[in-house]
Amino acid sequence: MKVVVGDDAGGALELMESVLRQGGELAADYPLVFGAQKRGKIVAVNEADRVLSACALLEQELVQPGGRVRIGMIGSVATAPDARGRGLASAVLERAEKELRVSGCLLSLLWADSPEFYTRRGYSAIGAERDFVLEIELADRLPVTCETRAASESDHGRLHELYSSQELRVERLRSESAQLYQAPGMKVLVAEAGGRVIGYVCLGRGADLAGVVHEWAGSPEGVLNCLGSLLRACRNSAESGPLFLMSPGRSTPVSAALEGLGARSAMGSLGMGKLLNPGEAAATVARAADRPIDWSWGPGGECVLRAGTRSMELTSEDLISALFPARGERSIIEAIENGLEASLESLPCKAFLWGLDSI
Ligand SMILES: CC(C)(COP(=O)(O)OP(=O)(O)OC[C@H]1O[C@@H](n2cnc3c(N)ncnc32)[C@H](O)[C@@H]1OP(=O)(O)O)[C@@H](O)C(=O)NCCC(=O)NCCS
Repeated sequence: MKVVVGDDAGGALELMESVLRQGGELAADYPLVFGAQKRGKIVAVNEADRVLSACALLEQELVQPGGRVRIGMIGSVATAPDARGRGLASAVLERAEKELRVSGCLLSLLWADSPEFYTRRGYSAIGAERDFVLEIELADRLPVTCETRAASESDHGRLHELYSSQELRVERLRSESAQLYQAPGMKVLVAEAGGRVIGYVCLGRGADLAGVVHEWAGSPEGVLNCLGSLLRACRNSAESGPLFLMSPGRSTPVSAALEGLGARSAMGSLGMGKLLNPGEAAATVARAADRPIDWSWGPGGECVLRAGTRSMELTSEDLISALFPARGERSIIEAIENGLEASLESLPCKAFLWGLDSI
């Protein structure tokens, strides 16, 4: 058995497509990992020249107030049916995490259909997103003040500009955005005012995001006009709806407007994560405090934080929960604040990934 890391998907892509898509195409959905100008990598287990298990990796920089966070995304984990239960996916995952750790990623992040497999391998729910339910009736309450239309290729530069103005996002090249806006089965709608695109929304991407508005940017007026058009189109085509909308965990003008219009929402987790660099996490917690905090490792590998005469021990799971708590819940942060008599106002990290940034 040989575990290899490379940028040539080769037999790994074939395996992933057969296991995850019943042979359907995966590459067009994830051009940054499998496309012609990809920057992702593939980890694969080969045996007798056959790929038996594999996953995809993509390093990303999360942009948020107060600095950037480098993370590694893991996706398309798959093992051939006749090779399951031999520890191959576990070996692939471990190798992927090592690769990401060495290149300086703070954590690995993935979306899981079967969370138990990942929970047993050190992953937990992390980060926050607010998910809205957009009932068809909401169409009557949304503004109709702009022209809306389907985006065309000539809009991609402007859409990238609007995406890049988001406070919370992933660093993306303009060429990468352009590839992502062409994802198969996705509807991209733009709103125009005074001959200029002022907002856009992306609806649907693969089976996971069917019926979900998973990326949007621009002025709230533009975004809300697009949402109104989508809902009216659903009503006119007699689709039963509702649609859903993903938004960052912290309030935004669009989420505040939707709440004001009575749309229901719930806080969810951003994904499943595992800390790859506990030292960097401990230093980030220490930097967030309003009084000097030292940190070191205890004999059992626990992180010991000290402020004056007070001290506190944290596990790796505590550290990741302090930085990226599931659903934004502050209980661990408050425990540290109480334990060290300090205030950690810049925590949690606000990082968010839009649906098009997933792999
Ligand atoms: C999930 C999957 C990647 C695991 O691959 P694997 O190489 O069998 O994984 P490992 O041998 O390292 O671990 C086996 C795990 O699968 C389970 N397993 C064991 N034998 C199995 C078998 N014959 N068939 C399926 N699953 C089996 C075990 O419960 C074990 O989990 P545990 O150690 O946490 O109890 C594989 O089943 C798969 O490709 N499934 C379909 C695609 C998928 O769900 N991918 C994950 C996307 S989120």
